[in-house]
Amino acid sequence: MNQDQLKALVGQAALAYVPDGAIVGVGTGSTVNHFIDALATIKHRIQGAVSSSDASSERLRRHGIPVFDAGSVERVPVYVDGADEIDGHGCMIKGGGAALTREKIVADLAERFVCIADASKLVDTLGKFPLPVEVIAMAAPQVARRFAEQGGVATLRAGVLTDNGHPLLDVRGLAIAQPEALEAEINQWPGVVTVGIFGRLRADVCLLGTEQGVRTLVF
Ligand code: A5P
Repeated sequence: MNQDQLKALVGQAALAYVPDGAIVGVGTGSTVNHFIDALATIKHRIQGAVSSSDASSERLRRHGIPVFDAGSVERVPVYVDGADEIDGHGCMIKGGGAALTREKIVADLAERFVCIADASKLVDTLGKFPLPVEVIAMAAPQVARRFAEQGGVATLRAGVLTDNGHPLLDVRGLAIAQPEALEAEINQWPGVVTVGIFGRLRADVCLLGTEQGVRTLVF
């Protein structure tokens, strides 16, 4: 199976975590696109979705799945999203698709975070994938200098603004041994909108696409 087939496999498998009548939290990315397509096959059984990006909202609507504003929903039973890396505790790096801020907002509404990923995303220590950080534009050089003090090299993602209109830094060279502690620290830096470490809001379950089928990790 190629990587896209593995993504399709877990996108389909995530349907098992969607309760009848639910408003479903929906993430962003190529793996989630497969989940959205699978969700369309059971759309008569759900109320709709809360989405983490304009791209996912558009795909949901194209399938005729109602999209609710995050602000109009207090809780959702499940949030399904991909990851750029996930460790053995369910902590993740996210934001490769620039949707990290809204992903964190929707994940925070969810009772349960189901991560869907192909097996290449499972790592021992987070940080090989460049860490995305959404920033206020005027603070970007200042935030980059703070990363340099930590041994990281931050570069501005060229030609990309988030759905919120902000630039992103991608930070290379960090070995993230304590994701929650680093997430909490970076969150304090002025000008940081969202850091792409999902430690406090880590996955409860990961459906990992492997050659042998779906491997389920429960954290
Ligand atoms: C979007 O900003 C990201 O957090 C994605 O969830 C992550 O990049 C995974 O994307 P793929 O499913 O495309 O690998």
